[in-house]
Amino acid sequence: MTANKPMIIAHRGAKGMAPENTLGAFKLGLEQGCEGIELDVHLSADGELVVIHDHTLDRTTDRQGAIAEKTLAEIKEADAGSWYSEAYKGEKVPTLGEVFDLVPDSIMINVEIKAPGNGMEQKLADFLNERGRIDNVVTSSFDHKCLRRLKLIEPKAKIGLLYANNLLDPTAYARSFDVEVYSLHPHYKAIDAEDVVKAVENGLQVYPYTANEIQDLKELTDKGVSGIITNYPGRLKDLLQDG
Ligand code: G3P
Ligand code: CA
Repeated sequence: MTANKPMIIAHRGAKGMAPENTLGAFKLGLEQGCEGIELDVHLSADGELVVIHDHTLDRTTDRQGAIAEKTLAEIKEADAGSWYSEAYKGEKVPTLGEVFDLVPDSIMINVEIKAPGNGMEQKLADFLNERGRIDNVVTSSFDHKCLRRLKLIEPKAKIGLLYANNLLDPTAYARSFDVEVYSLHPHYKAIDAEDVVKAVENGLQVYPYTANEIQDLKELTDKGVSGIITNYPGRLKDLLQDG
């Protein structure tokens, strides 16, 4: 491996060892030495920013139904830990505010918008401003128009382009925006070394997702990526210490 040390970004917390997108998973990521946290946000029916991956409660809690149709109080009734293991029984779906309270300012937070529109961009811009925490937060989405809207509302927000397939020229695509793009978030198999070099030379951060196997973590490190989004932050930390 090269001397490059990518930022260790815990995917939905330490998703490989704890129930995703819970305070328990974020705490474990921090304990394992992550330098960044990736999480997913939705808006509840009463306009609260809540941290959960799917559009419904069904897969990761003991309740059912669409997040957008539930109030925060209803969402808080759900147990988001016992589906994973008895040890995490009683974990709740956290608000974005609760995660920001937990995670030190020194740790980068990558907020992925899963439900663009319906006031999400304004709500998130207001939240970041109220918190006074914009510089070390990167907002990403597969919906690039949504990211542009956020950037027009709050020019200080950092935006990251999520994508799953190989782009012809990711840097040229990012630079084609009429607002500044901070980072590329490709699927870890959708970027080659040449793409990484060009992106970094052009001032873009490159944060591939979601790589977990040692060989993949090594290859991405050798490509010179800026950070790696992983379910196993401790594994990546060990690898970078050994390398
Ligand atoms: O942000 C990277 C990654 O989390 C995107 O995919 O489905 O895990 O949210 P997903
Ligand atoms: Ca995500």
